[in-house]
Amino acid sequence: MKRIAVLTSGGDAPGMNAAIRAVVRTGLDKGWEVFGVRHGYTGLIRGDFIPMGARDVGGIIQRGGTVLGSARCPEFKTEEGRLKALNQLQEQNVSGLIVIGGNGSQTGAHMLSQMGFPVVGVASTIDNDLYGSEITIGVDTALNIALEAIDRLKVTASSHQRAFLVEVMGRDCGYLALMAGIAGGAEAVVIPEVETDPETIATELRAAYERGKAHALVVVAEGARYNAEGLARYFQKHQERLGFELRVTVLGHVQRGGAPGAFDRLLATRLGTAAIEYLSWGEHGLLVGLLKGEVTATPLAEVVANKKLPDLHLLELARVLAK
Ligand code: ADP
Ligand code: F6P
Repeated sequence: MKRIAVLTSGGDAPGMNAAIRAVVRTGLDKGWEVFGVRHGYTGLIRGDFIPMGARDVGGIIQRGGTVLGSARCPEFKTEEGRLKALNQLQEQNVSGLIVIGGNGSQTGAHMLSQMGFPVVGVASTIDNDLYGSEITIGVDTALNIALEAIDRLKVTASSHQRAFLVEVMGRDCGYLALMAGIAGGAEAVVIPEVETDPETIATELRAAYERGKAHALVVVAEGARYNAEGLARYFQKHQERLGFELRVTVLGHVQRGGAPGAFDRLLATRLGTAAIEYLSWGEHGLLVGLLKGEVTATPLAEVVANKKLPDLHLLELARVLAK
């Protein structure tokens, strides 16, 4: 019998539980033993393994977060930490590991794989900044949460003729901001990938005011040089020029804690299942993700060597649509 382990790492993402469930039940279906590792790489280093049965993953497909817990683990970035993790895996007779997580987690997965251990990654982060998957587990739900907030803010903004700066997550990646901006009908979008002069935003807000708009919405990525705080500070000195009164909302972790929607549950289920299939074929050192709508495996070496950028043409589209 083969014994495998699964962990979730980095920022949690809605749908991680659905991926754990798929891994556990597909693994059991192969006649394997499946262990869960608690709190990501921290649990791997400490040997915090728990056996997972079919019932242990019952009733979790609809829950946000991760039942295994997640962590940021600086120790795993050191060779000493990774050796401790490798020892734990060998002591527990584990012969394959599935890592559900984002960019950093898959970098760790690649390093473990380079040490000779069979690892398969599952693409999961709300940031959508992971090469090898056009969309990652959690993005769709996080985006819908941001949109719900934006729609509500537009209602109150219209009542008061206000402009709102709404900051969304995404670390260094502007994907969430760009998509939330387009789908939320924003007047302007600010992302880290494109340097934006606050003066340009001020001019756009003023122009929207003069066109008779009842409100204006600027969606800002947290990683942009001028994020919500930076822009608000800048505009404080120039409030009267904007026409609108200005308010700021930082959505923060609210975006991460939601219950996964249908898209994320299905994506997580497909990717979790595929990770088991690849291990069963003896193929590893891979990330499973979605490319052109198909579940596809990309070598982890390629994943960590490349950067995924949002489609920057969409920034221009956002501008055109903000008439
Ligand atoms: P995410 O996976 O969501 O991008 P992080 O970037 O915080 O989240 O990474 C999660 C964890 O992955 C880190 O806390 C660390 O344990 C591991 N990790 C990140 N970068 C590396 C690296 N360069 N080498 C080894 N492990 C890493
Ligand atoms: O990677 C997911 C993410 O939510 C990023 O968008 C954000 O920058 C970061 O995690 C926040 O990290 P933490 O939860 O450790 O504050």
